[in-house]
Amino acid sequence: MAILVTGGAGYIGSHTVLALLERGEDVVVIDNLSNASQESLIRVAELTGKEPAICVADILDRNALKTLFAQHNITDVIHFAGLKSVSESIAKPLAYYENNVVGTMVLLDEMQRAGVHSLIFSSSATVYGNPESVPLSEASRTGGTTNPYGTSKLMVEQILRDFSVAEPHFRITCLRYFNPAGAHPSGRLGEDPNGIPNNLVPYISQVAIGKLACLTVFGDDYPTPDGTGVRDYIHVMDLAQGHLAALDHRNDGEAFKAINLGTGVGYSVLDLIKAFEKAAQTKINYRIVGRRSGDVAECWSDSSLARQQLGWQATRNLEEMMRDAWNWQKNNPGGYNA
Ligand code: NAD
Ligand code: WQD
Repeated sequence: MAILVTGGAGYIGSHTVLALLERGEDVVVIDNLSNASQESLIRVAELTGKEPAICVADILDRNALKTLFAQHNITDVIHFAGLKSVSESIAKPLAYYENNVVGTMVLLDEMQRAGVHSLIFSSSATVYGNPESVPLSEASRTGGTTNPYGTSKLMVEQILRDFSVAEPHFRITCLRYFNPAGAHPSGRLGEDPNGIPNNLVPYISQVAIGKLACLTVFGDDYPTPDGTGVRDYIHVMDLAQGHLAALDHRNDGEAFKAINLGTGVGYSVLDLIKAFEKAAQTKINYRIVGRRSGDVAECWSDSSLARQQLGWQATRNLEEMMRDAWNWQKNNPGGYNA
């Protein structure tokens, strides 16, 4: 019996593959390496002493999926594969809808043909759009997404919801991640963005290591305690554990579930800078500029449903996230392929 992990060479995928292997699961990865290096999985094997089966292919490739389902006794699919840059999605909407929406539909169709009925999908807090209020619970309004990436996640959730009505024997869990950050504590696995990072923590890390000169803080006039944007940063190892919990509880309750994975605590951009400075024992050079288009003031979770339904909660704090992010950055200044 094996678990198929799509996008398993990527940031969250590789940490989850490690957690799955550590608890003795057999893992099969499909990844087209469009935003990852196979080196991540080589390191996962070094850290765990176990190897996932790896198929370098696209989830849009039906034949590759058919072969995988025929070759391995797959019981569950954890579906990370997709494109994730907000700015790129505005420039290339078709690529985002094709990879994220059509890709998921192809995967689901091939799962059905192969008789595999358990799916965990990487959704995002982005489905809540501009929050009416925080914290965001699963009962909060979704929609009003401001870019094709966010809309693609919302569309996939709707497709999966509709599909689960038609196919009630399926078990589908959408995990709505808040802001993943940090790295494996070994410093061997972490986030390796292509080019200049869009996200805050990789950006700060690259300023700390001297690759980038200065962090631009997008806005200090939000209605938040210090005026900068507030987010719910969650350690990637906690996120990985959340997937294991979702697997364990896949048969509980309804055919379709959507569950937040966050810490329930919000931190501002300035809080992050301070925490990173402490972890790295260095000053982060920053300057404040205007707001970034599409950004919301605050986005943090009510994480009680995950506690109730999955018996899961985040256990790592901001200090550990920044420590591990820095440990990864300083040990791998050029990422995996340097
Ligand atoms: P990532 O880019 O590091 O990982 C995605 C992986 O999927 C990469 O290894 C990439 O090569 C692969 N991939 C992309 N398209 C593919 C395709 N068509 N076929 C096969 N492989 C493909 O991203 P991540 O941060 O690990 O995110 C994983 C998932 O979680 C994504 O679906 C993302 O949208 C979602 N998510 C991420 C965040 C975040 O901030 N990192 C937040 C919420 C949700
Ligand atoms: C965090 C905070 C910025 C960079 C995005 C996606 C979301 C999800 C996670 C996938 C905000 C500020 C950032 C910088 C800054 N991804 N910031 N300077 O925007 O909350 O979420 O990633 O699903 O869909 O939208 O994350 O890390 O980009 O920003 O001041 O150089 O840091 O304004 O307040 P965000 P982020």
